[in-house]
Amino acid sequence: MARIAVIPGDGIGNEIVDAAVEVLKKTDAKYRLNLSYVRHDAGGTAYDAYGTPLPEETIQAAIEADGVLFGAVGGDKWNDVAPDLRPERAILGLRKGLGLYANLRPVKVAESLIEYSPLRPEIVRGADLVIVRELIGGIYFGEKCESETVDGTERAWDVEGYSVPEVERIARLAFETARIRGKKLTSVDKANVLATSRLWRKTVTRIASEYPDVELNHLYVDNCAMQLAVKPTQFDTILTGNLFGDILSDEAAVIGGSIGMMPSASIGLEASLFEPIHGSAPDIAGKGIANPIGTILSGAMLLRYALKEEAAAKAIEDAVDEALADGYRTADLWREGFKKADTETMTAAILDRIE
Ligand code: IPM
Ligand code: MG
Repeated sequence: MARIAVIPGDGIGNEIVDAAVEVLKKTDAKYRLNLSYVRHDAGGTAYDAYGTPLPEETIQAAIEADGVLFGAVGGDKWNDVAPDLRPERAILGLRKGLGLYANLRPVKVAESLIEYSPLRPEIVRGADLVIVRELIGGIYFGEKCESETVDGTERAWDVEGYSVPEVERIARLAFETARIRGKKLTSVDKANVLATSRLWRKTVTRIASEYPDVELNHLYVDNCAMQLAVKPTQFDTILTGNLFGDILSDEAAVIGGSIGMMPSASIGLEASLFEPIHGSAPDIAGKGIANPIGTILSGAMLLRYALKEEAAAKAIEDAVDEALADGYRTADLWREGFKKADTETMTAAILDRIE
């Protein structure tokens, strides 16, 4: 029996996680995976109920689970909450608490969605890349000061730091990832300006000697941001730090048509967590129109990485491709001539196609 901790979070979290659980259940029935589910609160919803965005019980359940399926957290409602109690602390605390040092964000363009990218079809056709983002270090987790007064002027600061072992472990995971894909790794930094980036580059270059079959190149983050829009097909595996990875992965998501479709896997030594890369979309929460595909594909990644159930994972991905190819479109993707689908209709279309 594999235990999945289900943490919907805020906003559209419940709707999209419900959809993904339905898909997992159907897949379980076909592939005899023997999955069980426990649901836990996190984010603003947990803050309202218990005064903390990440209750101890939620962390504990996530640690004990074989895999965590996460929705999204946040919303304007909690904008004025103290920094340590903001909904975002829930996901940051889970990543840190579970030691999830690597975040994999794949971007692939389905042929049926080629027209949906804001980039021209001839630019995005064939794009197939993965961003490997360091997830529990860097400026996100460095020392910070919300406010101090120096010479009568208020200031705030955040410290960016990386140690050699932190860079080594994410670099190795990125080389391993590249090795089973296109054997091409692009490490992204800002070594022309930042000391942390110079250590990063030096360390990644040294680790490269362990992977002679993988071709390594380095790009500055500003240039990488441009290259993703100019020629995304040049990339196979992108390795980068926490902050740059956050920014580049939103940019890369538009290559695939809609951020609503993009899953992610966060991997640690003993735990893993799977979540769509989009946010909690409070503006459409409760309306039943959210695109569930990013979360459904995150469920597929859970089967692949946490439970090593490749065939079942592939069955979900194929069902999503087929539903799209058959013309089903949620509001974020809908155009004249296609089948307009709310969350439930899209989920049903995917359920019908699981083989
Ligand atoms: C993401 C999100 C998070 C991040 C937020 C919600 C803290 O933007 O997963 O990309 O910045 O990592
Ligand atoms: Mg982000």
